[in-house]
Amino acid sequence: MLAMNYRGPYRVRAEQKSAPYIEHPGDAIIRVNRACICGSDLHLYHGLVPDTRVGTTFGHEFTGVVEEIGSEVQNLKVGDQVLVPFNVFCGSCYFCQRELYSNCHSVNPEASAIGGIYGYSHSTGGYDGGQAEYVRVPMADVGPTVIPADLDLDDAVLLTDASPTGYQAAEMGDIREGETVVVFGAGPVGIFAAKSAWLLGAGRVIVVDHVDYRLEFVKNFAQCEIVNFKEVKDMAVHIKKMTDWMGADVCIDAVGCEAAGNFAQSLTGIKLKLQGGSATVLHRCINTVRKGGKVSIVGVYGPTFNAIPIGNAVNKGLTLRMNQASVKRHLPRLIEHIQAGRIKPSEIITHRMPLEEVADAYHMFSSKLDNCIKTVLVPPRSIASN
Ligand SMILES: NC(=O)c1ccc[n+]([C@@H]2O[C@H](COP(=O)([O-])OP(=O)(O)OC[C@H]3O[C@@H](n4cnc5c(N)ncnc54)[C@H](O)[C@@H]3O)[C@@H](O)[C@H]2O)c1
Ligand SMILES: [Zn+2]
Ligand SMILES: [Zn+2]
Repeated sequence: MLAMNYRGPYRVRAEQKSAPYIEHPGDAIIRVNRACICGSDLHLYHGLVPDTRVGTTFGHEFTGVVEEIGSEVQNLKVGDQVLVPFNVFCGSCYFCQRELYSNCHSVNPEASAIGGIYGYSHSTGGYDGGQAEYVRVPMADVGPTVIPADLDLDDAVLLTDASPTGYQAAEMGDIREGETVVVFGAGPVGIFAAKSAWLLGAGRVIVVDHVDYRLEFVKNFAQCEIVNFKEVKDMAVHIKKMTDWMGADVCIDAVGCEAAGNFAQSLTGIKLKLQGGSATVLHRCINTVRKGGKVSIVGVYGPTFNAIPIGNAVNKGLTLRMNQASVKRHLPRLIEHIQAGRIKPSEIITHRMPLEEVADAYHMFSSKLDNCIKTVLVPPRSIASN
């Protein structure tokens, strides 16, 4: 089959590799019809995620048709159209019982550090991902969700990660009615966080980035105010000026370890890898939020940092919440919002490209070319069958 193949930092190709097969009676094989590229894939692409092995296939945002099921699978049948949450999870461990699917204890030899994720290095279990014609989905009774007939497949594929992650970012901000929410990052996750902040009662939403086309997009998509941080000398002072010198009630980090905007952080965190990435946005969140405020982190980071203003967080009495999203938990509510017309996730899709062009697709998304926000890769065999 044709699949995206990682060859090393900044080098990916579409290549033939052997198709997956049922390895366990609980598996299903999905014929992929849509696979997105996520901002998290860029951390892999840039060589920042430990144990990213040459020859693996990325892709944790995909929909497809059930091609084959193992003998124990009961909730799916061949031919079902499914969306598959990016988390690999068992559904029954201590953490899954508490709906902390991203923290599942049964799907990754490194489970005490992180759960399982499709196509996201051997640090998250070594599962091959969905930027391919076919993908093996383990514990297929648990993760995949049959797509309701009235749901657009382009909306469905955004329910595998970006939309629920943005929603969980806003939810972890514990927004009270009328509060001011500042979202750092106008990528897909930040865009959905901004939209979700309104759904959860915000009175004011401000999004920060330095890429103008993304700021323009989020302004229209989420009816929010925007700030280009390149035009601002001191982010904390700027937001305080905008909020009667109080600071934001809630700050959301939807950027993570590759944050731009601070030379020392970029040098030590990204170039020299002396800490788990650039902590620029963590600084800005902690220093911009008001005393007693809330900081919600969904941006991805490496494990170790040494330059976080944790003293400021203590002295200001902040609540910090963070996690990988537990996608499945949010699906019923988000599907309801889509069906009621309150959100239309597919509006963020700017590019649709054949899987054969995966190298160009990564380059374009990584370099923010052609006003790219979200790219859907379409495998060759899926076109006729949708
Ligand atoms: N926790 C989860 O479950 C989860 C799920 C999906 C993605 N993520 C992470 O969320 C982050 C965003 O994902 P995405 O798909 O939107 O990525 P993306 O790369 O498309 O967007 C990131 C945006 O941040 C902007 N940015 C860079 N430095 C900034 C700064 N200092 N201040 C404000 N904005 C800045 C970039 O210009 C870009 O527009 C990534 O770290 C990704 O790995 C986490
Ligand atoms: Zn993702
Ligand atoms: Zn589990």
